[in-house]
Amino acid sequence: MSVLNLKDITKKYGELAAVDGISLDIERGKVLSLLGPSGCGKTTTLRIIAGFISPDAGTVEIGGKNVGHLKPYERNVGLLFQDYALFPHMTVAENVAYGMRYRGTQTSEIPTRVSQMLALVQLTGMEARRPHQLSGGQQQRVALARALAIDPQIVLLDEPLSALDAKLRLELRLELKEILRAVGATTIVVTHDQEEALTLGDEVVVMNAGKIAQRGTPTEIYEAPANKFVAEFVGRSNWLHGSKRGQSSDGVISYVTDEGLEIRTRAGRPCGEQGVDICVRPENIELVNGGEPEPAQGPEQNVLAGVVLDVAPLGADVHVVVELPGKNRLLAIRKNVGRSSVVVPGQSVRALFSASDVLIF
Ligand SMILES: Nc1ncnc2c1ncn2[C@@H]1O[C@H](COP(=O)(O)OP(=O)(O)OP(=O)(O)O)[C@@H](O)[C@H]1O
Ligand SMILES: [Mg+2]
Repeated sequence: MSVLNLKDITKKYGELAAVDGISLDIERGKVLSLLGPSGCGKTTTLRIIAGFISPDAGTVEIGGKNVGHLKPYERNVGLLFQDYALFPHMTVAENVAYGMRYRGTQTSEIPTRVSQMLALVQLTGMEARRPHQLSGGQQQRVALARALAIDPQIVLLDEPLSALDAKLRLELRLELKEILRAVGATTIVVTHDQEEALTLGDEVVVMNAGKIAQRGTPTEIYEAPANKFVAEFVGRSNWLHGSKRGQSSDGVISYVTDEGLEIRTRAGRPCGEQGVDICVRPENIELVNGGEPEPAQGPEQNVLAGVVLDVAPLGADVHVVVELPGKNRLLAIRKNVGRSSVVVPGQSVRALFSASDVLIF
């Protein structure tokens, strides 16, 4: 049975539908990432679940019960809000205990529970400190402890790592994942960072302009994006534009780009006819020296000739920009395996990619 069930939730501010007919359910113990650009309605959705905002339409069920009439503190929801820092005048222990007091937990039980929560987020011994005596990462862990302390039916985390610098963010991301798994918390974690969403979530919900653009496992979202928005928003992508030319008996469909380049894709996926957008992920593109003999080209293989425009070695990866005839540019991401494999600007290359790696929208 699902712990949370949203049905057709809509919330308008004047003409703007901040949340536009969202339906969503989560099973017990699952972590759902809510991913989308700024302003797409993520925070509004969480605030509706928590009871701070009443939807114009739709219902919120928690544990099978409609909670529409319940105040925030009457809902068994653990919160970590984007703009909702710790209480500066309270100690760490008082911050963690706050939600419990509010919900009428037996006073005698509170210290034990606070100790458990601080052990969980590895802050044992810091009970008496105040927020300003903690690092940003430690403050976020206190906020997480506070959200989990009330043993909530559902945990809502709104950009839990956004205030942290890149390195700390990465460390705390893994820690957060372990903690959520360890307590088996049913969780919605909101982020506009795709890597964070794909790492943390058992499933990812991609939102766009108040609507759900796609829900799926991280792999599904990345490898089989349902539409152009998801393909563009999650991961890097190259785009060409063209129309269908024909289909061969071996299940390969040919397109011709506006510049006259031939692109092959596998039949059997949804794909249009005229004026389609053609997408290739940069890591699926192989580069070979253009001076070498043309590789044997099977029906599954795409080959585009071009000239290297830019080479950027970025640690483990090398980002190579190739200019194709007609001024289109293609980004290829290759593993950085040493000097010998590196191409140089001005070099003629062939970009190779499989028909099965081509997405049509
Ligand atoms: N109280 C309000 N009054 C008017 N408009 C609002 C109000 N709250 C939110 N909005 C608008 O609703 C839309 C959704 O806002 P929301 O805060 O849910 O976005 P978000 O996805 O959380 O974005 P971010 O990633 O920037 O936090 C935005 O266009 C925002 O300007
Ligand atoms: Mg927000």
